[in-house]
Amino acid sequence: MCGIVGFVGDRPAADVLLNGLRRLEYRGYDSAGLALMGTDGALHVVKQTGKVSALAEKVRKAIPRKEVRAAHVGIAHTRWATHGLPTEANAHPQVSADGKIAVVHNGIIENYAAVRAQLEGRGVVFASQTDTEVLAHLIAAYEHGDLLAAVMEALRRVDGTYGIAVVSTEHPGQVVVARKGSPLVVGVGDGETIVASDVSAIVSMTRNVIYLQDGDVGVVTADGVRLYGLDTSASVERPVASVEWEVGAAEKEGYEHFMLKEIFEQPSSLRNALRGRLEMNRGTAILSGLNLTPRELAGIRRCVIVGCGTSLHAGMVGKYLFEGLADVPTSPEQAAEFRYCNPILAPDDLVIAISQSGETADTLAAVREAVQKGTVVAGLCNVVGSTIARETGRGVYLHAGPEIGVASTKAFTSQVAVLLLLALKMGRGRRLSREEGMTLCREIEGIPGLVEQVLAQNERIAQVAEKYAQVRDAFFIGRGILYPTALEGALKLKEISYIHAEGYQAAELKHGPIALLDESVPVVALLNDIPGKEKTLGNVEECRARKAPVIGIVTAGDEAATAAVADVIEVPRTSSYVAPIVTAVALQIFAYHVARLRGCEIDQPRNLAKSVTVE
Ligand code: M6R
Repeated sequence: MCGIVGFVGDRPAADVLLNGLRRLEYRGYDSAGLALMGTDGALHVVKQTGKVSALAEKVRKAIPRKEVRAAHVGIAHTRWATHGLPTEANAHPQVSADGKIAVVHNGIIENYAAVRAQLEGRGVVFASQTDTEVLAHLIAAYEHGDLLAAVMEALRRVDGTYGIAVVSTEHPGQVVVARKGSPLVVGVGDGETIVASDVSAIVSMTRNVIYLQDGDVGVVTADGVRLYGLDTSASVERPVASVEWEVGAAEKEGYEHFMLKEIFEQPSSLRNALRGRLEMNRGTAILSGLNLTPRELAGIRRCVIVGCGTSLHAGMVGKYLFEGLADVPTSPEQAAEFRYCNPILAPDDLVIAISQSGETADTLAAVREAVQKGTVVAGLCNVVGSTIARETGRGVYLHAGPEIGVASTKAFTSQVAVLLLLALKMGRGRRLSREEGMTLCREIEGIPGLVEQVLAQNERIAQVAEKYAQVRDAFFIGRGILYPTALEGALKLKEISYIHAEGYQAAELKHGPIALLDESVPVVALLNDIPGKEKTLGNVEECRARKAPVIGIVTAGDEAATAAVADVIEVPRTSSYVAPIVTAVALQIFAYHVARLRGCEIDQPRNLAKSVTVE
């Protein structure tokens, strides 16, 4: 949603803050700002609409170089607007009226209007429309020589979610941090400490990190962090974890965009998701993080899968996997809807929360609702130590490495692969024989190689994309297990190219949307040679009869399907269970090239943020 960085140490803070912001820019990118602790005892606050590069330029012009080099403490922020337009005034840091306290904040202060009215009643003049500004004024009101105590007092008066970093001219060697609902990580270096919304801003400096937990408040100094509980004010200890990511994992490494890099990483991200999890000679999967005995797993009567966006689409694929391989009735649910529909859950249900970031507020709220109802909840997350991973306490990590592009790619294929492992494991406890399990194991083991074959089509797919790059609308149709992939293909195209794209069940098109088809509206038909293809071919004929050009995702060598469409993107032959993975990769590449040809900001599409931590 927004990105926070804070630093205390010996080197110029501006370098650390701006580098950190660049790595967090995927979290929000409508405006950015920083506050540096000046040697003259005042704060230098610089804010700018647009990208971090524009902020860096403004810092260079606004503060004398000598001052910038001499400032060793500071905080910074990249914003995705929730309250107020993306203007300079609304950018963070937000500053107290006396200019002594600066706050960066990720999250939402829900009672900000009431708090603001109270403060205004006491004569405080507000400079922005943000909810965050109330924190700056509240902290100033409680600051009587102890910044930590003032922050705690202020936080006790607000409702909502926050990850914050605060500096004060009265405490020049400190950054005070707090977390409730929005992630914060402290990186502990040698004589320097960095705090950030996620580890990608930290790994270039240190791999030793402390994940703050909800309710933690702390004082960051060059020597590390001292943490306290907001409720008790008592000191709390959090373990120091070691980050496994390579620094390069969060860099483009020669690719034009993170999205392209992440698409091409899929053979290796899938190998990482599968590593050590296939037990070939027993024809099953090992998923120890689930922490469920074979008996408990066999006792599951129903699965409910919650998620949003791409993760929801993976969950929808999960329904076909769990029902097809394990006979477990499965309902995929949009996480926000799940939370507000008073879900009926039984003790022998398993709720699975899917989230790349592990921080999506709607999915987290669904997890809490399910936990509240006493259900077993497992997380399928990519980010290690994320809130959903911690609160579920059991689950399976994707091990896909950092996904920086706002459009999710490698996380989707790893999510589906992990769901396939889980379906195999549950299936072996029910109706799959050892031989059937072994056959599936071999196919799953071959997935990374199949994805390599799709990636080899990159140039061919780029040619098809060129033909359709300027269309205004597009439809994606798929049947059965390929229907969620049609939704995912449409989501990829719309979010990065801004083409209006809709995914439909192939059979549903004729019940209304077909009215929109003509020669200017392409239909991407998922025609993999799996059961249901013949029927989808019938739907393709209906589209062609309305003059819509059809792009077919076709199994290599399938002449009948090839003959039925205007343009072909080939994918390798697979079973139904693996088809969503290879097809999604082809659709990711197609969307990428369309967006590239339209000159779009592929890694940071307008209006979006990578991690949506507000409901
Ligand atoms: O981090 P999560 O997987 O929970 O994120 C869920 C969605 O916000 C995310 O998948 C979003 O739809 C992506 N932009 C899709 O590319």
